[in-house]
Amino acid sequence: METFQALLAQNLTATLSAAGLPRAGDVTPATDPRFGDYQTNAALILAKERGENPRTVAKRVCDAWVPYDLCEPPAIAGAGFINFTLRAEAVAQRIADLSQHERLGVGRADSPKKIVIDFGSPNVAKPMHVGHIRSTVLGDALARIAEFLGHAVIRDNHIGDWGTQFGMVIWGWKHLLKREALTNDPIAELVRIYKETNECGASDPAVREACREELVKLQAGDAENSAIWQECVALSLGEFARAYQVLGIRYDIQRGESFYNDRLPGVVERLVRAGLAEESEGAICIFFREITDLVDKPCIIRKRDGGYNYATTDIATVDYRIQDLKRDTVWIVTGAPQQLHFRQIFEIARREGYTADFRHVTHGSILGDDRKLMKTRSGENVALQDVLNEAITRARKIIEEKNPELEEAQKADVARMIGIGAVKYADLSQYRMTDYVFSWERMLSLQGNTGPYLQNAYVRIQSIFRKAAEGPASAHPNAITLSEPAELILAKRVCQFAEVVPTILNDFRPNILANYLFELANSFHAFYETCPVLKSDELARSSRLALCALTARVLQRGLYLLGIEVPEKM
Ligand code: ARG
Repeated sequence: METFQALLAQNLTATLSAAGLPRAGDVTPATDPRFGDYQTNAALILAKERGENPRTVAKRVCDAWVPYDLCEPPAIAGAGFINFTLRAEAVAQRIADLSQHERLGVGRADSPKKIVIDFGSPNVAKPMHVGHIRSTVLGDALARIAEFLGHAVIRDNHIGDWGTQFGMVIWGWKHLLKREALTNDPIAELVRIYKETNECGASDPAVREACREELVKLQAGDAENSAIWQECVALSLGEFARAYQVLGIRYDIQRGESFYNDRLPGVVERLVRAGLAEESEGAICIFFREITDLVDKPCIIRKRDGGYNYATTDIATVDYRIQDLKRDTVWIVTGAPQQLHFRQIFEIARREGYTADFRHVTHGSILGDDRKLMKTRSGENVALQDVLNEAITRARKIIEEKNPELEEAQKADVARMIGIGAVKYADLSQYRMTDYVFSWERMLSLQGNTGPYLQNAYVRIQSIFRKAAEGPASAHPNAITLSEPAELILAKRVCQFAEVVPTILNDFRPNILANYLFELANSFHAFYETCPVLKSDELARSSRLALCALTARVLQRGLYLLGIEVPEKM
């Protein structure tokens, strides 16, 4: 099923060639709905190329317009824009077609990719904090959208389960660990011993040296240290799994940094042999002498003490993803501070001859009320688990006020959907690079561009169907009539879903989808206020029920693509 936008572009291309002005017609959604639904600047471009008056060229195009039952005759506006207004009958027909269309009109990608998405990727022996929300929620949404568009996706959790911090964790484990505390709250205890070891080390060089020795022993495969490390990893993975369960996040594979350990010496050897890496001040480095802003920023792949680092692991990760997982596309979702790192990694991959499409999908930060990085009152990172719990508690309070009759068993479920949905939506409705202030009041409000507002629009439609004798599935009338302006506007919005979804991945912007769903919910509420559904005469009634059913499906599918569930009642 081709979108209106695509069909209009085809007709425009045919028209341009009939007018003796051959070029591919490009049609975009109208910037001002008063002038139409779609527009083209083709006449402006052609006029510039030919040194002619744009309005004259636009007139030539409109005169040659190949008659088309999709839209009214095109109109010229402003400097030479051409506007198209859809015919109500064409929209009605499309609504009837979409009612039968499982994918709601969304096409599949012409050339499906094999993508690995590296997102979330928290670190072991540290709590997952609120900062991990963005990468986790954004990566999950991108995975859902890519899958829906027909790409093959592997979700990989690149856990930070190796590194110099384990020297301190192991020393702390041996000297400071309280077994009971570990049982009660494993991550908190791991963080405590890590911090206290750090403090001891700051004042006592002997402790620093002892930590270094513990690390060397771990790296050499010492049995005791390996066992401690393994226990830390297992405890952390358990904690992560609990958070993923609440968030509704799943991974296909979890390849932590330690997975690549054996491969690191080979990576360095290979790069040196290929002449891509060289020794510098005792370390092995890769230089980027021809890249102006990287001239003095080499990438170290083996430190002077012989240790490997984050970069070495990421080079080995490239090998694994391309050669073992057979991916042609790699998306890595992290905060903006890792930009330099991945520029270097991708440049090294290019030099090694990899031709895959590597993308670093960066995001901004979540801020507290003071517009600084969100912290607890005592200056700690805010634990993710605390945020999720509070979201659910607050959502429950809202439901209890709004719908006290809801059965007890449903309340917990609905509170989770609304609380978690609010947190996810607050994140995804922002452009990913924008820093935003975390505000419970705003994200949980039933008004405005929020998760609960969209869920509520869906719930409202479900309640219409509960009152109607027929369920949403039976609302498939042959004759859709769109006589009221509000129902025509809503119907057009529903048709736009198929145009919006494929554009999200162009620059990794789920916020485009969020904002579309917000507009859809607004159009639905305007419709709901002016167009009676159940009390209309039979023709309008079944037509409006079909439109309601379709709106609910788009809301549900759209929110699903953002990783947000919809309750039937709230
Ligand atoms: N563990 C890292 C962090 O918390 C993110 C890892 C991202 N992925 C990667 N392949 N380096 O910052």
